[in-house]
Amino acid sequence: MSRRVLVTGGAGFVGSHAVRALLERGYAVEIVDDLSEGHREAVPRDVALHVYDIADRGRMDALLGARRFDGVLHFAARCYVGESVREPGAYYRANVARTVELLEALRAAKVTAFVFSSSCATYGDPVRTPMDEEHPQRPINPYGRSKLFVEQILADYARAHGLRSACLRYFNAAGAHASGSIGEHHDPETHLIPLAIQAAQGLKPGLQVFGDDYPTRDGTCVRDYVHVSDLAEAHLLALEAITAHEPGQRAWNLGTGVGSSVREVIRTVEEVSGLRVPFRIAPRRLGDPPELVADGSRAARELGWKPRYASLRAVVETAWAWHRSHPRGYSEGLR
Ligand SMILES: NC(=O)c1ccc[n+]([C@@H]2O[C@H](COP(=O)([O-])OP(=O)(O)OC[C@H]3O[C@@H](n4cnc5c(N)ncnc54)[C@H](O)[C@@H]3O)[C@@H](O)[C@H]2O)c1
Repeated sequence: MSRRVLVTGGAGFVGSHAVRALLERGYAVEIVDDLSEGHREAVPRDVALHVYDIADRGRMDALLGARRFDGVLHFAARCYVGESVREPGAYYRANVARTVELLEALRAAKVTAFVFSSSCATYGDPVRTPMDEEHPQRPINPYGRSKLFVEQILADYARAHGLRSACLRYFNAAGAHASGSIGEHHDPETHLIPLAIQAAQGLKPGLQVFGDDYPTRDGTCVRDYVHVSDLAEAHLLALEAITAHEPGQRAWNLGTGVGSSVREVIRTVEEVSGLRVPFRIAPRRLGDPPELVADGSRAARELGWKPRYASLRAVVETAWAWHRSHPRGYSEGLR
């Protein structure tokens, strides 16, 4: 009998790619997504999509009571750093309180394997780079703190209730599925690669580059862009690893270990698309560290995870294929 996995936020960017990876591996999949940010079109027709909030205890209890789930991949969250600074309560409610509600429903249903979308935002300003999992976790905004609180809650659930959990600290998720049928569509979009592509396509006004006087090789910020299908693959490996191990909370960084500057991203988008990316230099943004690059060696060693999209160009090529065929994203389009 195939193993059944519940995916929260499975209609979103990373979740929809994880759903594809699970299906390819023969898992049975069901999704809970309230479509606050997700897209129905990102969900394959034959996958059950339950459109409600993860904190809706009545419906969650009914779902978890009806079928046995072998594990949960938990992507559902609010993900805008700037908004979290302006509306911290909304972020703690969405990302912390709702996750606790979900964990209680899972505990009642005796589901014991939980893979959590954490973030490099839990580290805060780097004290060394690349950053390994032992790097101090001192988040500098409510979004990062909401992710760190959940990591700590998961450790408490391991001790108290025998939960097995994986905290996957992603760096910058990017790219799109090789099929070109699903990709990134956030509203508003804040991620550099889609913004650069949309600027090149003339769909958005010119790109703003926030600061060109950082102590980096060309003065612009350096980030670690990890392909969304590689992230998806890591979720499967993490799920298998925690299922095979004793209860406990474990953490893995997910990044390529290679940093790319904003100017390098712009140049790569131009090379791949053959279009010019109009941009202007704007002042630095508060709280943007010069460089965030993962040391992903623990995931390589313990999970056997190796990113297949190892170069920025390979990542951008898939993003470009998605945006070229879906210039307005999913059919709701750019608003
Ligand atoms: N994209 C990145 O670069 C990145 C980096 C680090 C961590 N993460 C984390 O990965 C996860 C997925 O990110 P993404 O870029 O795919 O985001 P996304 O917004 O595309 O996907 C999140 C999905 O969760 C759904 N959702 C939100 N709140 C919900 C709720 N209460 N009940 C049910 N569904 C709900 C949304 O409708 C959406 O489909 C998030 O937890 C995010 O914090 C993302």
